[in-house]
Amino acid sequence: MPFGKSGKKTSGGENNVKLREHWSGRLAFVLAASGSAVGLGNLWKFPYITWQNGGGLFVLFYLLCIVLVGLPIMISEITIGKMTQKDPVGAFRALGGNHTPFRFVGLLGVLSGFVVLSYYSVVAGWSIEYSIKSLSNDFSKIPQAQVTQLLNKEENRKKLAAAAFNEALKKPVPDERKAQMLSDAGLLENINAGGPVINKVFSENRDDLSQELQKNNRLEYYRNLFLNERKNAENYNTWQNEKLMPAYSTGMFVEFITDPVRTMSWHTVFMILSIVIVIGGIKGGIEKAVRFFMPILFILMIIMVVNSLMLDKEQEGVRFLLKGDSSKFTPKSVLDALGHAFFTLSLGLGAIMTYGSYLNKKDDAIVNSLWVTGMDTGIAFLATLMIFPIIFVYGLEPAGGGLGILFTTLPLELMKFPTGQLLTVLFYVLVFLAAFTSGISLLEVVVTYLVDEKGLSRFKATLIAGAAVYIAGVPSAIDTGSFLDYADKTATGIMLPLGGLFIALFAGWRIKTGLLKDEFIKHGYPMWSFNLFRFSIKFLTPTLVTVVFIYTVYSYI
Ligand code: TRP
Repeated sequence: MPFGKSGKKTSGGENNVKLREHWSGRLAFVLAASGSAVGLGNLWKFPYITWQNGGGLFVLFYLLCIVLVGLPIMISEITIGKMTQKDPVGAFRALGGNHTPFRFVGLLGVLSGFVVLSYYSVVAGWSIEYSIKSLSNDFSKIPQAQVTQLLNKEENRKKLAAAAFNEALKKPVPDERKAQMLSDAGLLENINAGGPVINKVFSENRDDLSQELQKNNRLEYYRNLFLNERKNAENYNTWQNEKLMPAYSTGMFVEFITDPVRTMSWHTVFMILSIVIVIGGIKGGIEKAVRFFMPILFILMIIMVVNSLMLDKEQEGVRFLLKGDSSKFTPKSVLDALGHAFFTLSLGLGAIMTYGSYLNKKDDAIVNSLWVTGMDTGIAFLATLMIFPIIFVYGLEPAGGGLGILFTTLPLELMKFPTGQLLTVLFYVLVFLAAFTSGISLLEVVVTYLVDEKGLSRFKATLIAGAAVYIAGVPSAIDTGSFLDYADKTATGIMLPLGGLFIALFAGWRIKTGLLKDEFIKHGYPMWSFNLFRFSIKFLTPTLVTVVFIYTVYSYI
């Protein structure tokens, strides 16, 4: 065998070959690797892009990408890790020769792991803050002092007037009043037009009416008129507070993420927790953690999904997922699906490769890949069923579309349930666990590299890697707006696809075909499955990933 015994070339290598830990079984590996794959990408990004791209066709295409692009890279990463029993840098060297240029791909992976964890930790920290906020019931009502503050803003006052106005329009309005309003809004030329004309113009412009009246400074007038007529005034305060909630919760979020003391504290807590787990090693740390946390994650997921499905009596969420709106499927959807298939499976930076390196050589890389891919896809679908009914089906387009909505709109929607507070707490614990089990795998990439390549003890390696990532995360924690975004774009848009491309090229063209073929044949898979794999990894995957990559770089500049 040309690999596996290159220990003498790296300091400490020989020891590590002998002492290398292994997962206690398939379940442990599958839980750990699924823990890495299931993250914010599943809970938030997948539902979001599925909605944007119209479900149905998009979902089908996404599945195709998972099978044709994701799965082959997953198989390659796991096999490479498992065969070499080494960190990504050592693995490329072991298979490609000591001076192979591919060893830089391993280094790029380790660096990507470092960068991704630095900001992932910050976002994960937000979920801790929000678990606590929901425990102390911060989303149930606005303190009176805050109401006054919110009302001092012109923008909020305008929104409120528009909402009150639209609410009032839900009840029948006499034709003359309609005509007067339309004319005030500049939407009706002849105020004496007959009832049918008035009603037609009215129903066509109903949604814009408040905006048009606002422009002509007539909105407040009608709002007050409606309120007086309907004697709604006494309920007005309650109603107003409810309508101000989104502004309040957005304000609360902004206040939190721009408070460096709090964001830094949670970043610190998250990194310490990750270090504690990784220091324990594969069996004593990571495996214990995922055996405990992953079942909780599944249970929380199920509770949330059942709750959403009960809310969604018409099954609109399910229908959207399966049928959707194919007019929203565009060339950009293709790229979104591809890029996400990649990200959601944690591919391209050697995280899965690193976990694979702790498998036994005789383990079956293919069945493991199938399990992890299946789990990740399953959770992504469940997340869609959970999120759709809560947010989208009820007409709340995600404002700004960013991660922010998880922390602004969602808690308010959850609070509308009778068990709202409990659901909100559970939801943020779920987000935290998903991020935590991903964070652990990211730290493990850097730690395995330091142990295998630099000969450090796991204890030392974890402390050094953890401290370095911690420091690297400080700018993201302090300057959440731009720095975090920038780090995310660079890592997921550029570093990961580049890593994935090279991993595919390496597996397809550089490793002796026999090695990967053996993996299929040895474990009894039919020849056609290997041929399909080979075709994907040699031609399809590199081409598709290159297209996504070029697109991303292009849209970057
Ligand atoms: N898969 C993770 C998610 O869906 C994100 C991620 C991408 C990741 N690459 C990774 C996590 C590498 C751990 C390791 O959110």
